[in-house]
Amino acid sequence: MNIAVKESRDIDKVVRLFEQHKDSPFTYLTNIPLVKILSQLESFKIFVAEADGETVGCIYSLSYIYDCGYIGGLLVHKDFRSKGVGGRLLGAALNSLNTRHVYLLVEEKNIAALRLVEKTGFKSIYKGCRYIVSTPLNRASLSQGITSGCEWLHLKESIGFKERNGVVNIGHYPVKIMEKTFEELRANNKILRCGSVIGVIEYSYEVTVGDRLYTFNDHIVRKLCGIGLARRIVELNPFYLEPRPLDLASMINHLLSIGEVYVKTYDGDPVASKLPLTGRTGALIMEYEKKAF
Ligand SMILES: CC(C)(COP(=O)(O)OP(=O)(O)OC[C@H]1O[C@@H](n2cnc3c(N)ncnc32)[C@H](O)[C@@H]1OP(=O)(O)O)[C@@H](O)C(=O)NCCC(=O)NCCS
Repeated sequence: MNIAVKESRDIDKVVRLFEQHKDSPFTYLTNIPLVKILSQLESFKIFVAEADGETVGCIYSLSYIYDCGYIGGLLVHKDFRSKGVGGRLLGAALNSLNTRHVYLLVEEKNIAALRLVEKTGFKSIYKGCRYIVSTPLNRASLSQGITSGCEWLHLKESIGFKERNGVVNIGHYPVKIMEKTFEELRANNKILRCGSVIGVIEYSYEVTVGDRLYTFNDHIVRKLCGIGLARRIVELNPFYLEPRPLDLASMINHLLSIGEVYVKTYDGDPVASKLPLTGRTGALIMEYEKKAF
């Protein structure tokens, strides 16, 4: 059977495919409201695989901030798997992106997807871990002030940088921190220092889409219509010159004056795990580097 892979604007066909598979593993129905809202973005593209006019696969791509691309929403109809459709969709999404680094998230136990993306050239960087902090920590013992005094080399040599291959999570998506990105972030007061802790900060919003909450940063929120803004969120990706949990607690407390703090780090972070917080591990962050850049 001839299966064509092409760009499409028909979100309804994608919705139908997702609904047909709603009880199958790794079918994320949460993608539907997300796709609907993200489709307002200029760089957002959907690709579908069609067989006899029926949609049998889909994927989307999105150019994100700081020269990073993101791919999501990959799904192939049960009856059309292991025929190369997933690989073709992934190839089309990758080709559509003009960014040096491209990211996607895969759950560790999703062996089929993991094999597929690795075979395509993605490398596993780290497993994400998130702590949500709403109330101040160890109020009595805090002494460190917040500064913006941090150089690129400090960050590059810090604990956590190598472990994450310089990749942080900003406004829901992975972003590669290179020297140019660092300078841009620092100029926008998004690199903060608190004693031994260097924080890559993003000021985001919790956004209501349908009956669900998502986190989007300013860059994205500015471009979206018809969303209800909820609370202010501060995303903190911490790095450490020395492993001192109290400095991290100080930075978190400082940021709590702005909004709820999402500490975004990696599974195995030796400092965040020492604080009295409950973390939730997430998916593997997979990176593809385009060699032409
Ligand atoms: C993951 C998924 C998209 C793969 O689609 P597909 O069309 O079957 O993939 P392809 O036929 O292009 O497979 C290409 C490669 O992926 C790997 N792969 C695919 N299915 C696999 C499986 N069941 N077990 C192990 N490896 C598998 C193989 O390496 C395969 O190469 P090979 O055929 O040379 O061995 C499909 O299984 C799916 O829709 N799963 C549910 C949704 C999902 O997991 N989405 C990804 C979220 S990140």
